[in-house]
Parts: sequence; C-alpha cells; structure tokens
Amino acid sequence: MPNKKYQMKNEKFIKISPSILSADFSRLGEEVKAVETAGADYIHVDVMDGRFVPNITIGPMIVESLRRMTALPLDVHLMIQNPDNFLSAFIDAGADILTVHVEACVHLHRTLSEIKKRGARAGVSLNPATPLCLAESAFEYADLVLVMTVNPGFGGQGFIPGVLPKLEQLRSLIYQKGWNLEVEVDGGIKVDNIGEVAKAGADVFVSGSGIFKTTDYRNTITTMREEVKKGKGRKA
Ligand code: DX5
Ligand code: ZN
Repeated sequence: MPNKKYQMKNEKFIKISPSILSADFSRLGEEVKAVETAGADYIHVDVMDGRFVPNITIGPMIVESLRRMTALPLDVHLMIQNPDNFLSAFIDAGADILTVHVEACVHLHRTLSEIKKRGARAGVSLNPATPLCLAESAFEYADLVLVMTVNPGFGGQGFIPGVLPKLEQLRSLIYQKGWNLEVEVDGGIKVDNIGEVAKAGADVFVSGSGIFKTTDYRNTITTMREEVKKGKGRKA
C-alpha cells in the first residue's frame, strides 16, 4: 500500500525523481538502492502499454517488487490507454503517486478522484503539444501536474524547450488560484538544463538517462539540486 509517511514529508521542497527506465534492469534492486542512497526523493516508474505510446515496459508486478526494495515514494507514470482499468492494481502494488495522461482519460475528474479515494496521490500529465486548458478545470482535484518535456515512449530523448512557456503559465496559474500542486517535468532533464526548467516553475524533476547513464549518482543528484537552486535564485 502507499507509503503515507513519505507522502506528507517535505511537500514544499524540490524533488529529484530518477526514472528507472534507464536503470540496469538486471540489477534493478541495486540501482534503486543506489539512487536512494544518492539522495533521490521519489522513484519514477514508467508504465507503457504499446498503445498510448509506441513502447511496452512494466506492470503492477514490478511495482510490487519495487515497493519491497525502497522506502521512497513510488511515482508511477501511466502511459496507457484506459488507465481506469488499472488504478487499483497499481495502488495495491504500492504506488504512492499515480499519474494519468489527460489525452488518455475520457472522464478526468472521475479518474483523479478515484485515485485519491483509493489512497494514492493523483497526478495528471500533459504531452508537449497538449495545452493547459485541456486539463485546467481538473487541476484542483489533482496533487501533481506532470508536464512532459519529451513525447512519451522512450528514455534518452532530447528536451523540448518549446514547453517552457507552458510551465511558466502553469506556475502563474497555481499562484493565482492558490492550488497545492506539485509541478513535475519529465524528459530530457539533465544537469545542464535543470536550472532553466526550475526557473520556469518546476519543482519535481524526473531524470532517467541524466542520472542512470552517469557514473556517480550522488554527484549528479547533488549537482542537479545546486543547479535548481541557482535557477530558482535567478528568478527571484
Ligand atoms: C518518457 C518517460 C520518462 C523517461 C525519461 O516517456 O516518461 O520518464 O524515462 O527519461 P530521460 O530522462 O532519459 O528523458
Ligand atoms: Zn515518466
């Protein structure tokens, strides 16, 4: 079941969420432990169905195994069609945050409410080409908005800078409305662009290849945090 203790801790601070998609799956447990020790805040789990995105990855069984490997919150990103059919399976497996794509949801408010009713935090994700207005009316029902900075489906793709204005727009909207929402970004986030993305308004940073393809996870995560602070500082 979701790890409630971690849900409430340090809600306001920036978070690094390594995506296991770029980890060595033959040593998944060790990889997850390594990023936990290196200072990760969440573990990002990419679920793909070969329909919503052109790739297939993992299901609830792996989430259940991950739940036994780490005390960190599991940040589960569902890139699947008809996510409603799988909410219980992933939450029972131990997802703390369950994020669905607005493009895959016919009844978004209902889906987000169901996630929360079942004891997890609810996230809504938007593809790079999807405008905020498509999901805006549902943001008050969510705990997190995930702004994709690549088209979902694969790790190691290039960051799309055209998404930055959308992040700025979202940050202003949150200030204006007073919503208690985390703003997460996902795709192509690395040490050299994380500051700019932080400046635009993100506070949770998913990074797959940007962490797992480096040799020293602790050094990478520490540098990312420093760059985020610098980026946020420039805005002030
Ligand atoms: C893309 C996934 C991402 C991906 C990020 O579809 O949602 O979480 O793993 O990987 P990088 O950081 O390598 O772009
Ligand atoms: Zn993801």
